[in-house]
Amino acid sequence: MKKFAELILAWYTRHARQLPWRNHPDPYAIWVSEIMLQQTQVATVIPYFERWMNKFPDISTLAVASEQEVLSLWEGLGYYARVRNLHKAAQLVVSEFGGVIPRDIAELRKLPGVGRYTAAAIASMAYGVDAATLDGNLRRVFARVFNITLPANTPPGEKILWDLAAQHLPRGHAGEYNQALMDLGATICLPKKPRCPKCPVRNLCEARALGVQDVRPVVKKKSVVPIKIQAAAVVVRDGKVLMARRPSKGLLGGMWEFPASPVTTDPALGLSAELESAYQLKVFPVSPFATIRHAYTHFKLTEYVFLCTLRGENTLPENCRWISIPELDQYPMGKVDRRITKKLITGNE
Ligand code: ADE
Repeated sequence: MKKFAELILAWYTRHARQLPWRNHPDPYAIWVSEIMLQQTQVATVIPYFERWMNKFPDISTLAVASEQEVLSLWEGLGYYARVRNLHKAAQLVVSEFGGVIPRDIAELRKLPGVGRYTAAAIASMAYGVDAATLDGNLRRVFARVFNITLPANTPPGEKILWDLAAQHLPRGHAGEYNQALMDLGATICLPKKPRCPKCPVRNLCEARALGVQDVRPVVKKKSVVPIKIQAAAVVVRDGKVLMARRPSKGLLGGMWEFPASPVTTDPALGLSAELESAYQLKVFPVSPFATIRHAYTHFKLTEYVFLCTLRGENTLPENCRWISIPELDQYPMGKVDRRITKKLITGNE
């Protein structure tokens, strides 16, 4: 066993936090706790975990509960997709795995809401599988002890940190090792003012030797991405749809799109006003059709798409054309508009 792991495990035997899901014989309890602990602090989770285990003591009770009951018990914890996924996953485990939570990481990762971190956490803590994991606390510990200067929030930095976690994992003790590192990160290797003199690995810690603990992990600042909101019109007549060709220069230059415009207030009203002033095109939004979100390199777009009719007299703007729906795939367009055509043809996004 590596010195690092030896020191961490010895420290854990004396300093482990007493938490209600620790050493729990039931993988279900560990799974519930891990989902609650995503994005939420231990102290907040404890009372929720206890209420949950009283109300839904096992996976089959959870699987047959109503969504309303499940959501009510989660109320206040936030990030409600977590609980909807947990509920769905419980139903899947009952229907596909006979109620037994899988121990295999690849199988676990197929469950809704279970990613790389959570799968490894469950497998190691519930089943003793030799799987390393990495959360915010572990990232900080490894970035400091091994003085990792690549930003922890970029793929190369992430890779190094996952690899370090795996390289130091003591076979047969993965659950304790992972949890020991979580506790070390939560109680000693704090983001600000780490308590280095109390740390079991202080003599191995490269960042401490260099005095750079405060600037590890290195994090790459996320640039602020502007958000653009626009609305688009789907006008269908006699099996044809009204499309506009974008100006040949600039973003998606020369490609085709559903007539669209930026909007600042009510998207339907804005669409109608803007298309009239920009193209003399008089559209009347009849019903919402889709809301499409897409991240471009330099901004994020939310586009509200409406089924529209034309009102009054319209001369077709010169950049517009009626295109029969089956021919749409011959016209180049960006991802957002391609998704709209797909929904128009198949009914699904
Ligand atoms: N955060 C996520 N899982 C945890 C665990 N098992 N113990 C302490 N903190 C955690």
